[in-house]
Amino acid sequence: MSVARTLPWDWYPGTIPENVAVNDTAYVETTFSFTKYRSELSVGVRIGRGSATYSGTMFDVGPRGRVHLGDYVLVHGAWIICDAEIEIGDYTLISWNVVLMDTYRVPFDPLERRRELERAIVRCPRRIEAEVPARPIRIGRVAWIGFDVCVLPGVTIGEGAIVGARSVVMNDVPPYTIVAGNPARVVRHLSTEEINHGR
Ligand SMILES: CC(C)(COP(=O)(O)OP(=O)(O)OC[C@H]1O[C@@H](n2cnc3c(N)ncnc32)[C@H](O)[C@@H]1OP(=O)(O)O)[C@@H](O)C(=O)NCCC(=O)NCCS
Repeated sequence: MSVARTLPWDWYPGTIPENVAVNDTAYVETTFSFTKYRSELSVGVRIGRGSATYSGTMFDVGPRGRVHLGDYVLVHGAWIICDAEIEIGDYTLISWNVVLMDTYRVPFDPLERRRELERAIVRCPRRIEAEVPARPIRIGRVAWIGFDVCVLPGVTIGEGAIVGARSVVMNDVPPYTIVAGNPARVVRHLSTEEINHGR
C-alpha cells in the first residue's frame, strides 16, 4: 500500500497524486496545484532536480496529458492546460499568471460548443470534456517567460529565448531571441556575448 504524500508546509489539505514524480530536491508549494489533475499515464507530471512550483501554479492535465519540468525550473505561477505534452527545459523561468495551453479544450463549432456546455452540467465535477485536438508545447532550456504570457497549442520556444510580459505566443520562437507583443514578434536576437555569458 502506498503512503499518501502530503507536504508539511501546505495550507491545502491535499496530496501529491501517485503518478506525479517529484525529485527529492524539488519544491512544490501546495498540493492545490493538483486539484484539476487527471492524468492516467504512469507518470503524468515529472518535476526535476531543484525545480520549484509556487502557489499560483495549476496542473490542469487531462487523462492522456504529460508535463515534464526539467532541472532547476522555476514556475512562479502558471495555468498548465495539457491534454498531450508540455515540456519545460532545465533552468527555465516561468513568471506569474502565465497560461501554457496545448489544447483549447472547447469546440470551435458554435452548436457543438453549446451542446458541450449543456453536457457539462451533469458531470461531477462540472467541467467541459470535449474531444479537441491537442498539440505539444516545448520550451527549451534557459528560457524566460514573462508575466501574463499566453503560449498557444503547438508552439516551440527555443533555448535561451525570452518572451516579454503580456505576450501571446502563436508561432515558434527561435533560440536566443526576444519576442514580445500580441501576437508575439521578434524584438531582437541576443548577441553572441549575451549567449556565451549564460553558458
Ligand atoms: C522583453 C523585455 C525583456 C525587454 O527586452 P529588451 O531587449 O530590453 O527590449 P526593449 O525594452 O529595448 O524594447 C524593444 C522593443 O520591444 C518592445 N517591447 C518590450 N517589451 C515588450 C512587451 N512586454 N510587450 C510589447 N512590446 C514590448 C518595446 O516597446 C520596444 O519596441 P520599439 O523597438 O518599437 O520601441 C521586457 O520588456 C519584458 O517584458 N520583461 C519581462 C519582465 C517580467 O515579466 N518580469 C517578471 C519577473 S520573472
